[in-house]
Amino acid sequence: MNHQFPPEFLWGTATAAHQVEGNNANSDFWVMEHLPDTVFAEPSGDAIDHYHRYREDIALLASLGFNSYRFSVEWARVEPEDGRFSTAALDHYRRMCEACLAHGLKPVLTYHHFTSPRWLIAQGGWQDMDMAAKFARYSQKVTQHLGDLAEMVCTINEVNIPRMSAMLWMAGGPGETFIRQSAHALHTTPQQFAPFMFAGTAEARDVILAAHHQARAAIKAERPSLPVGLTIAMSDMQALPGGEEVRDRMRHELQDVFLEAAREDDFVGVQTYTRERYGAEGILGPEEGVELTQMDYEFWPQAIGATLRRAHEVADVPLIVTENGIGTEDDERRLAYYEAALQTVAACLQDGLDVRGYFAWSAFDNFEWLLGYRPTFGIITVDRCTQQRTVKPSARWLSAVAMANRP
Ligand code: BGC
Repeated sequence: MNHQFPPEFLWGTATAAHQVEGNNANSDFWVMEHLPDTVFAEPSGDAIDHYHRYREDIALLASLGFNSYRFSVEWARVEPEDGRFSTAALDHYRRMCEACLAHGLKPVLTYHHFTSPRWLIAQGGWQDMDMAAKFARYSQKVTQHLGDLAEMVCTINEVNIPRMSAMLWMAGGPGETFIRQSAHALHTTPQQFAPFMFAGTAEARDVILAAHHQARAAIKAERPSLPVGLTIAMSDMQALPGGEEVRDRMRHELQDVFLEAAREDDFVGVQTYTRERYGAEGILGPEEGVELTQMDYEFWPQAIGATLRRAHEVADVPLIVTENGIGTEDDERRLAYYEAALQTVAACLQDGLDVRGYFAWSAFDNFEWLLGYRPTFGIITVDRCTQQRTVKPSARWLSAVAMANRP
């Protein structure tokens, strides 16, 4: 694994505010987590209290030899009411950037990672074209405040996940009672209920892409040299004989339209966990005999190589692996996953692909959305009673690779 990566390659880990900070109480997710008939396994609660412990966490990540850290700025904290910005919240994220830089970590910021302020959902959420301008206004504010310290900005995390969710995993929606209760609690109607994750219509896709494009313009107006991109959830979509047509159609709808929309960006963030197989009838389950992860995904580390090649083919812009990892209790399998995955990334580089960084998901075991704290993606484990952090062997292994490849 030594010396196969360019000296300026970004080596890092990633987190998202809601999954680690704790008490993100002004967000839509917080509301949905606390409904009587919630579909969440448990509420996020204190999470791993990263909001208060970021200094130690950043120091720990730096001690492992990484040179970058990807984290998200929480819109619900920065703009607690429509048009009202919190300087204190912006200062918090500025201090995080400063802590990163003081430890030699380049801050890669995400401006939206699934959660939104409550007020946005009351106004129609991610289905209402007016929100794009609001997201751009928020992006401009954040850039004004932190842009000088950021290495690059991902506007929206996994722009295609709502569409994937609607077409693959939650066809029919998350359940009538849950939607009714959520809509009521978030001051909207079931018809207009559109938190990011549940905004799966074609119209919402256009809103999401407009939000990205308007935010990009706002960020560039503030700081033209700051690299801006979006990130895409990309599984390696494989076709079995006879499944080519369905796969191509689904891939166009779920990945290509988003990659095409990123052609003017400075980079695309590729986020990959596994592969999906398609037959003539549509998506197939896991192949018999292939090991499954805690998410019931196939253990398929080589997927990242395939998705990088696909992203290159369609978007043809510089690429960054903004997330790659595995939910498992068995850290030996995590290590094996990273080893195999990084080999395919190295092969992409050898073939001339412009891959600029690799961020393991995730720095810490954290709140895995609907599934709560059960799936463990971290290279560092956290005892949520004492908040004590313990480095796993996979982190040591990644650390050795990062250090061997750094100047
Ligand atoms: C998301 C993360 C999530 C991870 C693992 C990605 O879709 O960006 O927030 O924790 O996958 O499921």
